[in-house]
Amino acid sequence: MNVIIVDDYESLSHAGADWLVEAINAKPDATIVVATGNTPMGVYHELARRYSHGLIDTSRLHAFQLDAYIGLAPDDQRSLFGWMHRSFIEPLDIAETNVVRLVGDAPDPWDACRIYEIAVREAGGFDISILGLGPNGHLGFNEPPSLPDSPTRVIPLTPESIASNARYWGGEEQVPPQALTCGMDLLLAARRTLLLVSGAHKYQILHRAMEGPQTPDVPASYLQSAPNVTVLADRAAWHGLETQSR
Ligand code: PGA
Repeated sequence: MNVIIVDDYESLSHAGADWLVEAINAKPDATIVVATGNTPMGVYHELARRYSHGLIDTSRLHAFQLDAYIGLAPDDQRSLFGWMHRSFIEPLDIAETNVVRLVGDAPDPWDACRIYEIAVREAGGFDISILGLGPNGHLGFNEPPSLPDSPTRVIPLTPESIASNARYWGGEEQVPPQALTCGMDLLLAARRTLLLVSGAHKYQILHRAMEGPQTPDVPASYLQSAPNVTVLADRAAWHGLETQSR
């Protein structure tokens, strides 16, 4: 794993956008799986700024949804597809025909998983994976325990993820208890991965993921064996509380 440590969230957002500009320019028809969550938002904002300055061509990019709550329509304000759309698809003008949803409101969610897997495999897998790190070590909604060959699937959310996601939607009762997630198998096969980690509250899980044993209890620990992973963290996440007070 390559590790880049930057001073703060603003620097992380710039460095993440730089990384993506380089990756997209190297492969303008890249397939990209796109995380939501708070951490990547600054990166997407910066990337959109670079796009508006003509630094990347997005016309041939293909974007894939990483995870979805079960039972929410795309226009529900909690929809992760809606969030991805507002923060990544629209600002970068990615063609709707080049966007693959993980359809959490499908009549048969398991069927939606199989359709998604076929779409990813037909596209040749992911060239670029943009991920955040869950406070419990999840990637997407691959909740602990998740094995490295876990497929795209329906998964109950852990109490920790429900509590963590409550901050997006204003209360735990607003967080659907079940989700779909892109599988570990597809994520770990991505040709390039950018793992974005910000804030002292991620310190312990970041170091468990990077230096601890590879274990289903910390799904992100399997990134240690994935090809071409860049961990981009700010000082608060890398050093923990100690540096936050400096
Ligand atoms: P965050 O979420 O970026 O909002 O911290 C990360 C995650 O839960 O995967």
